[in-house]
Amino acid sequence: MSVLEIRVLGDPVLRQDTKPVATVTDELRALIDDMFDTMRAAKGIGLAAPQVGRLERVAVVDVEGGKQPLVLINPEIVSSSTDTAKSEEGCLSIPDVFGDVERPSAVVVRALDRDGNPFEVSASELLARCIQHENDHLHGKLFIDHLSVLKRRAALAKWSKQKDRYPGFIRRLTDEEVAEHHHAEDL
Ligand code: NI
Repeated sequence: MSVLEIRVLGDPVLRQDTKPVATVTDELRALIDDMFDTMRAAKGIGLAAPQVGRLERVAVVDVEGGKQPLVLINPEIVSSSTDTAKSEEGCLSIPDVFGDVERPSAVVVRALDRDGNPFEVSASELLARCIQHENDHLHGKLFIDHLSVLKRRAALAKWSKQKDRYPGFIRRLTDEEVAEHHHAEDL
């Protein structure tokens, strides 16, 4: 188990579509364990494979501090509520940048678990938001894409002042001082 480097905005891997997992192997489970370690070290609540430079269609989520860790392999959102909710999001790949994102307030997601067994989860509130944010990552989409043009411009301006801290678009948690203002909703 190890903490991996996190790729930040500007790395083309974050804009790539992922490849569906054909077989859940021990190698994939090792990646999943490393992704949980990385997410927790970064104090995030979700992490998708492209954020650690990988293109397997896999994400991990944990919105309750270890109580309900969720592995999503080949996730598909099979239904979304018509009612929406707006709330602030951040992203481990865009440190210190936040923005209000409107999304369906509830979703049903179908995926494989770490043993390769299919399951379905009905999620609402923060879990629903996190699943949608991670599912976006698996298709090259980031939360800033959901912002209005003006809000996105402001977010990118803020990011342009941060990005020099991440040469090669790499965020090394071990090198990083524990951030002064960790945010509860870095996904
Ligand atoms: Ni994210």
